[in-house]
Amino acid sequence: MATTTRPATDADLPAILDIYNEQVLNSTATFDLEPSSPAAQREWVKQFSHPYVLLVAERRGEVLAWGCLTTGGAKPGYRYTTEDSVYVRADQRRSGLGRQILVALIEAATANGFHTIIARIADDNPASVRLHESLGFVHVGREREVGYKFERWLDVAVMQAALPLPA
Ligand SMILES: CC(C)(COP(=O)(O)OP(=O)(O)OC[C@H]1O[C@@H](n2cnc3c(N)ncnc32)[C@H](O)[C@@H]1OP(=O)(O)O)[C@@H](O)C(=O)NCCC(=O)NCCS
Repeated sequence: MATTTRPATDADLPAILDIYNEQVLNSTATFDLEPSSPAAQREWVKQFSHPYVLLVAERRGEVLAWGCLTTGGAKPGYRYTTEDSVYVRADQRRSGLGRQILVALIEAATANGFHTIIARIADDNPASVRLHESLGFVHVGREREVGYKFERWLDVAVMQAALPLPA
């Protein structure tokens, strides 16, 4: 059965939170150290008005992955830059959902007038690096030992795509 990618609704928030918190607890993909709460998530979700988006991939009414475009910097001069995030439920990885979400995010970023997308990828996460490379992102830098989680220092690889991407 096909997987639909669409903007998230309030009904999707518990599934989005579960997918995220699994990564908070078990991975260095996010530098959050404690699971987020529904109340904190309700604050977080307020940022997603045009041009920023929160998308889900859904199959048979079940949210299997999500992704978002957030601000590329707090100051107004960053307004044509956005940063992406993609999270696929642990039991659904490597079946194309991450690519489906990131393609939809790139389309949304293009449609919403962004000039460039940044991906900040912690700890040499090969799945995320390969996913972004496969969709045209290039490596533009590396922040060294800017994170500390699970008792070790973590680098962040910075990748970037200029929009629009070639078809
Ligand atoms: C990174 C992530 C989003 C990838 O999503 P996914 O659905 O598993 O990836 P897809 O099946 O769409 O794969 C797309 C491409 O990504 C790359 N890729 C995905 N998983 C990979 C892995 N484990 N190792 C190496 N490359 C991988 C491949 O290039 C793949 O293309 P291919 O299947 O044609 O080889 C997913 O692993 C995830 O949610 N990880 C935990 C959260 C996270 O790290 N998010 C990113 C934070 S920066």
